[in-house]
Amino acid sequence: MKKVYIETYGCQMNVADTEVVFSILGEAGYARTEDIAQADVILANTCSVRDNAEQRIRGRIEQFNFHRKSRPGVVTGILGCMAERLKDSLLESGKVDVVAGPDAYRHLPGLLAAASQGHPQIDVLLSREETYGDIAPVRVDKNGVSAFISIMRGCNNVCSYCVVPYTRGAERSRDPRSILREACDCAARGYKEVTLLGQNVDSYRYEDVDFARLLSLVAEAVPGLRIRFSTSNPQDISDAVLETMASHANICRHIHLPVQSGSDRMLEKMRRRYTRAGYLERVAKIRSLMSDCAITTDVIAGFCSETEEDHRDTLSLFEQVGFDAAFMFQYSERPGTLAARKYPDDVPAEAKNRRLEEIIAVQNRLSLESNRRDIGRTFRVLVEGPSKRNPAELCGRNSQNKMCVWPDSVHRAGDFVEVIVLDCTQATLLCRLAG
Ligand code: SAH
Ligand code: SF4
Ligand code: F3S
Repeated sequence: MKKVYIETYGCQMNVADTEVVFSILGEAGYARTEDIAQADVILANTCSVRDNAEQRIRGRIEQFNFHRKSRPGVVTGILGCMAERLKDSLLESGKVDVVAGPDAYRHLPGLLAAASQGHPQIDVLLSREETYGDIAPVRVDKNGVSAFISIMRGCNNVCSYCVVPYTRGAERSRDPRSILREACDCAARGYKEVTLLGQNVDSYRYEDVDFARLLSLVAEAVPGLRIRFSTSNPQDISDAVLETMASHANICRHIHLPVQSGSDRMLEKMRRRYTRAGYLERVAKIRSLMSDCAITTDVIAGFCSETEEDHRDTLSLFEQVGFDAAFMFQYSERPGTLAARKYPDDVPAEAKNRRLEEIIAVQNRLSLESNRRDIGRTFRVLVEGPSKRNPAELCGRNSQNKMCVWPDSVHRAGDFVEVIVLDCTQATLLCRLAG
């Protein structure tokens, strides 16, 4: 039996896609291996969202090529967003045998077979229909507690900095029946949490089922599981979604709501379809319906023509909202995007760097403040396994997606336990078992 090894980069959707690829290749007779030295097929499922993501993968391609050269018969391939963006130029390097975009995974068995005969293969056609809805993913996470369920693919927004619509194609939603089947299957296999994934989950629509309806269908189909979802777009997250969250105890109290910038001038240039005031209105609405809901965000420092004043608007927005956590990035120009074509990437590297550091410093303090507010509170936590630092402690997340650790020799991964917060760091709630 041939063995396949896959490295996954980028977002949660890529993790879910890797699980689909393992399923397709499993059906075609490949076994999975976690040891690259044992693999007959070596694949990277890649990300193009920022230049540094691509640079890391370029390094790995060299490494893969080393295996390919030293062990005859080994086939290497690039999957995912970088495959879609760079197309033939990846094959032209002569370092990989297969290039397959995100909608080409059903063809992988054929592509790999032809490549093993010495014929390089490329398939980067994007589809308007493909959702892999009928494919049962082979879960790659090891603890068997939390699973990703992809509910849609692609993106119809045109945020001017973003490469995703080019690498993932047009938005399409998956049949809710197949989503419910997958959620029930996760429950039957002992999973305790599912995360519904899409680039813009609030624009999910399949016939008359919108995202609010889908959320309630899933929450009610698997009442013993926790439900998460990502990513929400500020302009699209509806009151109906918030009300559905508020009325289902098993939908987690956490919304990842990327803001990107606190400056209206930047938001317009980014082609985000909300203003600072509109964003703050959504935050207020979330908090009025769910006072205990965590809000996290993504932000970009140093987008085209960003001034110190624009940057201060971002800092003040962070203070105003008091995010519980954030992913923070420097702007990275992506070839082919609207911003790359229309706007010079003119914020000097030092300024981008400093602005990012300033945002990080503010967020570090906000994260610590957010965690301090939790001291003395009791949370229901889903155990993920032993804590990385101390094997006598367990770790797991609360509904707000905060990492908790506590001494425990009784419980196991997959248990729900009640803990009381005694202390915290900026990243972790330090707890003890309640009762
Ligand atoms: N669909 C999600 C985001 C997907 S990409 C949304 O709309 O919010 C994840 C994050 O990467 C984005 O939120 C953004 O903050 C960041 N990002 C995307 N393109 C980028 C670029 N060209 N440079 C820097 N960061 C970028
Ligand atoms: Fe990119 Fe915008 Fe789509 Fe998110 S919503 S994936 S940032 S284009
Ligand atoms: Fe990266 Fe593609 Fe996800 S560009 S962030 S892997 S959709």
